[in-house]
Amino acid sequence: MTAEIIDGKAFAARVREQVAAHVERLKADHGITPGLAVVLVGEDPASQVYVRSKGKQTVEAGMASFEHKLPVETSEADLLALVRKLNADDDVHGILVQLPLPAHMNAELVINTIDPAKDVDGFHISNVGLLGTGQKSMVPCTPLGCLMLLRDRLGKLAGLNAVVVGRSNIVGKPMAQLLLGDSCTVTIAHSRTKDLPAVCRGADILVAAVGRPEMVKGDWIKPGATVIDVGINRIDAPEKGEGKSRLVGDVDFASASEVAGAITPVPGGVGPMTIACLLANTLTACCRAKGLPEPAGLTP
Ligand code: GUN
Repeated sequence: MTAEIIDGKAFAARVREQVAAHVERLKADHGITPGLAVVLVGEDPASQVYVRSKGKQTVEAGMASFEHKLPVETSEADLLALVRKLNADDDVHGILVQLPLPAHMNAELVINTIDPAKDVDGFHISNVGLLGTGQKSMVPCTPLGCLMLLRDRLGKLAGLNAVVVGRSNIVGKPMAQLLLGDSCTVTIAHSRTKDLPAVCRGADILVAAVGRPEMVKGDWIKPGATVIDVGINRIDAPEKGEGKSRLVGDVDFASASEVAGAITPVPGGVGPMTIACLLANTLTACCRAKGLPEPAGLTP
């Protein structure tokens, strides 16, 4: 079997178009411009790339982008003061504090200081609890993007066996909650799971989010399964020349694509969905703040 390649890049472009169209209507009909504030502390190169990309796509969607770049030595108290200021700013509907934060800061405290209604990452403990109890919340962007891709490919997910490999607060746990919300039978597996290949072979839906390059092999996959690869790992690629590298996922794409029914590539699969869902969450937060109808199809 040769798997269908799930084109996350094209799907994300459609989500962004949908967001932009809704933003345009908000502006025209209500004079409202959704605004996203992104806070970056320090100069982590990967974070700088993400933040630049978020700012660019926010503006392209017609929204206001507020970037706050703070030096690495910023005190936690100063960061908390900025978060509180953004909480009180009516032009800001979404707040994202880029992680990881420098070691001298308590990331949980910072995240839990964000107004939950503006927590477009869905990391605030209130949103975690709301999602876990099936209530309306802000949903973490990467799992939301994965859910959209799965529904698009499979339609109703009810009754399917879903295995999520990885138990992070950012991806694994919220992904499992979303799949449970769609009535899947959900297993959360991780690096300590006994006979992980056998557990994975039971999956109709396999979501890999462990951060280990090419760990999930083709013979771990049930024939015809839908495989969502959340991993983004940079590995050496001497075949491309000395000192060269390439991006791979947590799934060994070559062997997996021989067995799976459908699979997301890396890059071009889940990655582009994360920022598209951040824009969607910002729009949703804005609509909720203003008591306006939420856009259809952009929330679980
Ligand atoms: N760092 C890497 N991914 C993310 C994300 O989704 N949100 C935030 N805030 N920081 C990140």
